[in-house]
Amino acid sequence: MKRLVVLVSGNGSNLQAILDACEQGRIDARVAAVFSNKASAFGLERARQAGIDAYALSAADYESREAFDRQLIARIDDYAPDLVVLAGYMRILSPAFVARYHDRLLNIHPSLLPKYPGLHTHRQAIANGDSEHGTSVHFVTDQLDGGPVILQAKVPVFSNDSEEDVIARVQQQEYAIYPLVISWFVDGRLVMRDNAAWLDGAKLPSNGYAGE
Ligand code: GRF
Repeated sequence: MKRLVVLVSGNGSNLQAILDACEQGRIDARVAAVFSNKASAFGLERARQAGIDAYALSAADYESREAFDRQLIARIDDYAPDLVVLAGYMRILSPAFVARYHDRLLNIHPSLLPKYPGLHTHRQAIANGDSEHGTSVHFVTDQLDGGPVILQAKVPVFSNDSEEDVIARVQQQEYAIYPLVISWFVDGRLVMRDNAAWLDGAKLPSNGYAGE
């Protein structure tokens, strides 16, 4: 069975959706290990409750981003993952990390990329009066939140929405699309080639599958 390694920094609700999908057979793989840059991340607790190895590495113990990532790579590689999944992992990756898992590294970013890379996307969508917001699953490249988009989900933004309302609405969609994309990868249907995402042999458009 294929092996996933998941990286988290916080609550880990996307990790939970992935664990549930593996448990229910919607993803034909198992989560072999979970790593975090935060010892307090609830995602680690979720992993342990599911009987999965879970570890935190502290940046304070390393002299540089490169040194931290070298150790993280070594620990991840102990689990020989087929796919590395970033699920709310809030630490910038070194080029060496991205290169190591090139074409088997996924991220989920809460915006309709290429709109709003970086932080506080929901807040920006509200401030700009956007009528819709969303989330994107993409392959990771050296460009922050810039790798090829695989699948997006849109949600409406209503005029009286708080930031929390939009976050919650977006996250509901994340729990559906992230496991789905992971299942495509695990089943060999999804690959990254020539800096593009390909599904079932067809190159996906720049905003992913079923993009408008
Ligand atoms: C998600 O909304 C994801 O889009 C972003 O960070 C959030 C993580 O939430 N990258 P959780 O830790 O999975 O609950």
